[in-house]
Amino acid sequence: MGTIKLIICKNENEISDLASKIIVDLVNNKKKSNLGLATGSSPIGTYKKIIEKYNNCEVCLKHVRTFNLDEYLDLKKDDFKNSYEYYMDENLFSKTDIRKKRTFFPTMLGNKPNDDYSKFEDKIKKYGKIDIQLLGLGTNGHIGFNEPGSAIDTRTRIVDLAQSTIDSNSRYFKSKEDVPKRAVSMGLGTILEAEKILLIAFGKEKAEAIKNFFTKEEFHEDLPMSSLWNHKNVYIIIDEQAASKINKDKLSNFLIENE
Ligand code: GLP
Repeated sequence: MGTIKLIICKNENEISDLASKIIVDLVNNKKKSNLGLATGSSPIGTYKKIIEKYNNCEVCLKHVRTFNLDEYLDLKKDDFKNSYEYYMDENLFSKTDIRKKRTFFPTMLGNKPNDDYSKFEDKIKKYGKIDIQLLGLGTNGHIGFNEPGSAIDTRTRIVDLAQSTIDSNSRYFKSKEDVPKRAVSMGLGTILEAEKILLIAFGKEKAEAIKNFFTKEEFHEDLPMSSLWNHKNVYIIIDEQAASKINKDKLSNFLIENE
């Protein structure tokens, strides 16, 4: 079996079921797990299912540590609701027993503001490594906020957002002018140090990036997702629409069944 395992699900619900199951199974086997978490619309269903499992007493999350991929910089003062910290509180943290002091963002370490991003990396290392890194996918192929042109060995740092990312993320803001132009993101090098990577994507907007990923079969700077070819344990969990442009002979090389 190759280093990349592709699972094609019928829809978003099936993707969320599978991703949440993988994460909950990990936490049930290792209660002090280190979870690398993502934002955007893609992981919302996964977080909902984790909350359901928590409410059904199928998992206890109070010992996990979470490390988020990225956070905006320069958000307007009254726009806290667009911060990824707020997103995580709303979509996961406040609805489970995850302890706030064990949640880490590149710009916050627990409850403390952080602008020395090497300290964020030190925090990950202090607890070993990230056991599972959950990733979404930008339409331009970005992961975290690592835009096209990011080098394979980049670490957590300030990044400029690509215009296509600003345009795409403007749906969450009052106007395009309100979208920050900068963020702090784990680097590709940081992401690749995780033990296991789960990338989830659905919808036809992601089909081109997914197709390009399978065409390249190695890292190219113009497609940050292609850095995942340098990792040994990657699950790409997508729906039929996102998979619709993958070359047929590539499919058989990487496709595995969703048991
Ligand atoms: C943002 C985040 C990414 C995310 C991407 C895709 O730019 N920084 O981590 O993967 O959006 O978002 P969505 O899941 O809404 O398509």
